[in-house]
Amino acid sequence: MVLAGTGRVSLITGASTGIGKEMARKIAAMGVTVVMVSRSRERLKTAEEQIRRDFPAAKTDILVADLSSQADIRQLASEFCDRYERLDILINNAGMLVPKRSVTLDGIETTFAVNHLAYFLLTNLLLETIKSSSPARIVNTSSAAHKSATLDFDDLQNEKGYSGFPVYCRSKLANVMFTYELARRLEGTGVTANCFHPGVIATDLFRDQNFLVRAGAQLFLKSPAKGAQTGVYLATSGDVEGVTGKYFVKRRAERSNKQSYDEAAARHLWAVSSELTGLSKPPTAYPPPDRPV
Ligand SMILES: NC(=O)c1ccc[n+]([C@@H]2O[C@H](COP(=O)([O-])OP(=O)(O)OC[C@H]3O[C@@H](n4cnc5c(N)ncnc54)[C@H](OP(=O)(O)O)[C@@H]3O)[C@@H](O)[C@H]2O)c1
Repeated sequence: MVLAGTGRVSLITGASTGIGKEMARKIAAMGVTVVMVSRSRERLKTAEEQIRRDFPAAKTDILVADLSSQADIRQLASEFCDRYERLDILINNAGMLVPKRSVTLDGIETTFAVNHLAYFLLTNLLLETIKSSSPARIVNTSSAAHKSATLDFDDLQNEKGYSGFPVYCRSKLANVMFTYELARRLEGTGVTANCFHPGVIATDLFRDQNFLVRAGAQLFLKSPAKGAQTGVYLATSGDVEGVTGKYFVKRRAERSNKQSYDEAAARHLWAVSSELTGLSKPPTAYPPPDRPV
């Protein structure tokens, strides 16, 4: 069954520009109400106007939130639930590549906070609404960049020798591990969770990077519309009905990196994330004492 049409509701973070805006455009064109999220009302308004110009019947809405702030994420979830009774499609997409280490208002390293913890917290806050809209789908924008990464549970907030791109890669690995763990926890609910690599896409993501990174990206750049294809496919296509816990590239399930299949590590990431977002108490040590490193 295609997950589209009037009556369905989606929420897309990072929808003011880039890949998120293109996913919003394509999903709105299918008749689904699209709630677009970013930090900037102005940028969201511009994106919304462009979508409505192309598809006058599009049903769009705007919610402003800085996803580096857990208070903003809670406010976002609460405003969403005040306005809508269902959520058929959640796309966690907002992401940053932060060249110099910084911390958020919550005291958390910014890349980890925005690229991983925001996906985690927003999803959990909306989970009951999503489950009650079943069959429903959660789609997380990751990246092939995750393949070079390993999560260091002693340094999840990247205090040791910060370097923007490796830290970004680790956050994208966290997206994959979060997706797999979420899919396991959602078994039997009719809600699927998948993640994808959009390709190397001409967006604002690389704006603060050094010449080498920008030049490297330029070599392989594709359009944001192309970057949106796999995410829209996962969110709406009948081909992936019931498919869950997978990493997709160009609309096909692919192997992700080795650590992403470590279920104990994914459970631990979930526990740490719960604690850092105030959803639960501190987790026990990882790896467990009886397990070799
Ligand atoms: N471009 C690529 O080649 C590529 C490759 C692999 C994966 N990805 C992934 O694709 C996703 C989208 O990136 P993009 O390439 O489309 O980049 P982009 O053009 O820079 O768009 C990023 C989006 O995220 C939003 N955003 C950033 N920080 C935010 C925050 N703190 N709170 C709320 N919204 C925030 C931005 O909105 P505002 O600035 O308006 O707040 C914007 O809408 C990211 O998860 C990225 O990791 C991109």
